[in-house]
Amino acid sequence: MKFKVSVVGAGNVGATTAQRIYEKGHSDVVLVDIVEDMPQGKALDLLESGPVIGTDAKIIGSNSYDETSNSDVVVITAGIARKPGMSRDDLLLTNMKIVGSVTEEIAKRSPNAILVIVSNPLDAMVQHAYKISGFPKERVVGMAGILDTARFRSFLAAELNVSVTNVSAYVLGGHGDSMVPLIGSTSVGGVPVSSLIKPHRLEEIVQRTRDGGAEIVSLLKTGSAYYAPSAASAQMVESILLDKKEILPCAAYLEGEYGINNLYAGVPIKLGSSGVEEIIQVDLTEEESIALKNSADSVQELIEIMEKNA
Ligand code: APR
Repeated sequence: MKFKVSVVGAGNVGATTAQRIYEKGHSDVVLVDIVEDMPQGKALDLLESGPVIGTDAKIIGSNSYDETSNSDVVVITAGIARKPGMSRDDLLLTNMKIVGSVTEEIAKRSPNAILVIVSNPLDAMVQHAYKISGFPKERVVGMAGILDTARFRSFLAAELNVSVTNVSAYVLGGHGDSMVPLIGSTSVGGVPVSSLIKPHRLEEIVQRTRDGGAEIVSLLKTGSAYYAPSAASAQMVESILLDKKEILPCAAYLEGEYGINNLYAGVPIKLGSSGVEEIIQVDLTEEESIALKNSADSVQELIEIMEKNA
């Protein structure tokens, strides 16, 4: 029996996420968007790639939520994306309304699903989806850390001319300017990165990671990144469905872990068939702890703005 995955928002991130999941073949996929006929067109195009890819999974597009009923995982990418000069936070109130209404529709029809939130500003959107869905915290999780970490890892691999698979790194905290790359836990082939790259150069790479989303926005001009975000989203979906229990940096609801309370923040988690199965506590330096706390404070500010506008 195949799994059922719904992807809401059939734009750049949603459609590429649906494609990546569909091509794996383990899940039937439902792609939903408010734009008439567009998700149907993209889903049909993907379905017609099946014989070439060699997948017998089904994929359909819809403008209604009824087809999403009883999904195992729902990925929410609906909303507006950044344009040059905008920060993720500029999307807050528009995407809050969109993510709120989508979550309501989904929660009614798939009460046992695990929600993977992708819309930005990520940490605030996942907190909002958690509140609106009424789901347990284990079943509402946000995609950001894998993407930030992948950017960091790819820059480090290019710098040192080594395989990306040999670079292990964690980027924690909010998905924004306050993200916290853990230099002490970053290594290349087991060797600490700080003994391979000089501090000032490492700082430049960290800054490029922080600005990674904006760098793509300024190049694309009409939208934001989607290949790497969809790869990260699909990895989360697969770790859940196949109960892989991968340890991945994701936005999870914290109740005291890392000294953060009642707030979503990017931390390493174990992701399996129950959703967030464990929050992994890594030792932080004092500087990293302060940076993570500051990052949580900026997410809290967004939550307060949302509460005032609810
Ligand atoms: N219900 C369903 N779909 C919606 C709704 C809604 N209420 N409102 C908007 N959408 C759809 C749009 O019609 C569009 O097709 O969401 C899609 C968003 O797609 P894009 O504009 O291509 O944006 P994308 O690059 O996919 O980014 C989506 O993910 O990474 C984040 O910051 C990004 O918040 C943004 C989201």
